[in-house]
Amino acid sequence: MITGKTGLVGIMGDPVEHSLSPPMHNAAFHQLKLDYVYVPFHVKRGNLASAIEGARTMGIKGLNLTIPHKIEVINYLDELDEAAELIGAVNTVKFTENKAVGYNTDGFGAVKAIEETTSVQDKKIIIIGAGGAARAISFQLLLSRVGEVLIANRTREKACNLRDDLKERFNTSLGCLGLDDELGIELEDTDVLINTTPVGMHPHQDDKPVVTSDMMHSDLVVNDIVYNPLETGLLREAGKVGATTVHGTKMLIYQGIGAFRIWTGINPPVEVFETALMRELG
Ligand code: ATR
Repeated sequence: MITGKTGLVGIMGDPVEHSLSPPMHNAAFHQLKLDYVYVPFHVKRGNLASAIEGARTMGIKGLNLTIPHKIEVINYLDELDEAAELIGAVNTVKFTENKAVGYNTDGFGAVKAIEETTSVQDKKIIIIGAGGAARAISFQLLLSRVGEVLIANRTREKACNLRDDLKERFNTSLGCLGLDDELGIELEDTDVLINTTPVGMHPHQDDKPVVTSDMMHSDLVVNDIVYNPLETGLLREAGKVGATTVHGTKMLIYQGIGAFRIWTGINPPVEVFETALMRELG
C-alpha cells in the first residue's frame, strides 16, 4: 500500500511507456517488503532540467535515465561516480538530503551478465559496435581489469575514436577494426564477444548476424545485448559451434540490480528481476 512514507523512484525518458524497469523494480520491492514504488515519467527532450529540479524538491529518492537523457542529465547533478565519469553518461541518480549523485550501471550490467559464466579478468574481449552501449561496456570492462579489448565497428573510424578515448585512461591492450577479415583472425584467440549493435533486433531478426559460426569457436562466450527476440541470430550461430551464450536480458536485469542497490543498499534476488522481466516479454 502507498502511504505518506513510501519512497518514490522512477525512470525519465522519451519514450518511456515500454520501459521494462517498473515491473522489475516493483516486483523486487514487493518481494523484499520495501516501502518503495517505481514509476515511469515521460520527460521530453528540453524538459530535463526542470524535471530533475522537480525531483529534488519533491524528495524523489532515485531515478533511472534513458533515451534521450543519459548525457544531458550530468549538467544537473552534483557528483558522478567513477564509471559515470569515465563513460560520460548516467543511467542512475541517487538523491540525498543535499546532493544528487550520478552513476552508470549499464556497463556493470553487461559485465555481471558475462561473469555469470566466466570471469572477465585478463580475458581478450571483442565488442561489436561503437555507440553509447559499447562505450559503457568497454569502460566497465577496463575497470574490471580485462586483458585486451578490441572495438569492431561497421564504421572503423568510430571504433578507433572510442579506442582513443579508452587509451587516454587505461594502459590495457586496446585496438580498433572494421567488420572485415581481420575480425575473423582476431576472433580465433578471443574469449568473449559482445554485440552492442541493433543487428538482429525485432523486426529485423532475420538479418545476417554481425558474426557467423564459421568465425567462432567452442570456448567463446557470446553475449548479444539485443533481448527481443531472446534467441538472436548471433546466439543461434554461437550455439552451432557449442559456444557459451549470454542473453541480452541479463544486462537489463543486472543494470537494474545495480540501480536498486544504489538506492536501497540492498542486493535484490536476481530471480525476482528475471521472473518479472520474462513475464513482460511473454
Ligand atoms: P547505442 O547508443 O544504443 O549503442 P548507437 O549509438 O546508435 O546505439 O550505436 C549503434 C551502433 O551499431 C553503431 O556502432 C553502428 O555502427 P556505425 O557506427 O557504423 O553506424 C552499429 N550499427 C547499427 N546498425 C548496424 C548494421 N546494420 N550493421 C552493423 N553495425 C550497425
